[in-house]
Amino acid sequence: MEATITDLINASAYGQNGVPHELWTHLRKESPVYWYAQRGHTPFWAITKHEDIMEVSSQPDIFSNEAGGIIVLNEAQIQSFIEGGSGSPLAQMKTIITMDPPEHRSYRKVASGYFTPRGVTNLDEIVKSSAAAIFDELPDEGEVDFIETIAQKHPLRVLATILGINEEQEERLLVITQELFGGEDPDMQRQGEDREAARKELGMEFYMLFDEIIKDRRACPRDDLATMLANAELSDGCPLGQLETLGYYLIVFTAGHDTTRNALSGAISAFLDHPDQFERLRQDPSLSKSAVDEIVRWTTPVNYMKRQAVQDYELRGQNIKAGEELALFYCSANRDEDVFEDPFTFDIGRSPNRHLGFGWAEHYCLGAHLAKASMKALTEEMVRRVEWMEPNGERTFISSNFVVGLKTLPVKYKLKNG
Ligand code: HEM
Repeated sequence: MEATITDLINASAYGQNGVPHELWTHLRKESPVYWYAQRGHTPFWAITKHEDIMEVSSQPDIFSNEAGGIIVLNEAQIQSFIEGGSGSPLAQMKTIITMDPPEHRSYRKVASGYFTPRGVTNLDEIVKSSAAAIFDELPDEGEVDFIETIAQKHPLRVLATILGINEEQEERLLVITQELFGGEDPDMQRQGEDREAARKELGMEFYMLFDEIIKDRRACPRDDLATMLANAELSDGCPLGQLETLGYYLIVFTAGHDTTRNALSGAISAFLDHPDQFERLRQDPSLSKSAVDEIVRWTTPVNYMKRQAVQDYELRGQNIKAGEELALFYCSANRDEDVFEDPFTFDIGRSPNRHLGFGWAEHYCLGAHLAKASMKALTEEMVRRVEWMEPNGERTFISSNFVVGLKTLPVKYKLKNG
């Protein structure tokens, strides 16, 4: 099937075909700053070149996060918002991803210390023990879905540990997040009489769950991120408000969970398609660091982020006007022929690897270090424990244009003895 321009943002096309690489390759060549104005969506500039995304991301005073929210909305989403979506507690939460400087810097500082390489106490131990437990729990051989059994369990366990969520709450949280952030994929949404009521109900459940944890950490502080957020102060010494604190939990959990899950499922899928790279990593585990960067480049789970121009700006000869929106397509930038040699080759030893999978500059992923450590532990454990694995049926994609990746990944495998 040939790609059409609406595939750029049409969630069901992502569900059917995966991300539209053919289309992006065409746009990078013919129209890298492209004005998308089709029925069904708010119009936006599609930015597809690596260099242009860096230029935009480095100027948060001109290209605002605050003005626009995260997702380029389709008509149904706009309607739902007008009809009362803003009444949900979730819609009122403030998160750093939708803030601009100077406010953004002050809020980011609240947790940035925790996310530095030395910030998470025992990070190595947390990620390694989660990875080991996942393979311990797998039968020695079998036919399973590696998303359910591996890719989704690992980030959930790691985040639950640092956010202080107990095992009982872990399962509840997984269901809520999936239903809330399954995007437009009907298989991943909560079934309810109407979508809006279901969404509000979910927002409320999320609120209650984290509110419980916040209260507990204020009463009994411990050595975890949950305690840090529950007792956080801004740079002016004022405590973080209740909605802002909840917003932080929400953003850490949601930004960290589906992204890492999709990177890991995409990694396993890439290793199934390129067994030579799996063998290469097994022979030389010191490649695991560069392998993780290549996995993030290859999978690019965050397809795009949105910005809104607050003043007129000329980019690659196109006149962007104040008020217009831009979608920065990281997925496209990570296959840019001007930056990457053989961009469509999966090479775990790729160096340099200047991918934009974690964004760039002001809003560069706060959890990048944690995500990398977590993926490294899992891939190292996988090459150590898996004797062989092969595809076991069709892989399907999530119907989402935002956090993109696989929905199912059936695999036949055998683990090593001992
Ligand atoms: C492979 C996994 C991950 C990928 C691909 C990813 C990707 C991204 C990207 C592209 C952005 C930039 C957003 C923008 O340009 O506006 C971002 C921001 C962010 N990420 Fe990640 N992320 C991952 C894992 C995580 C984890 C594990 C956490 C937390 C534990 C996390 C927390 C955040 C937060 C809080 C922001 C907002 C930063 C800000 O606005 O200043 N991410 N991430």
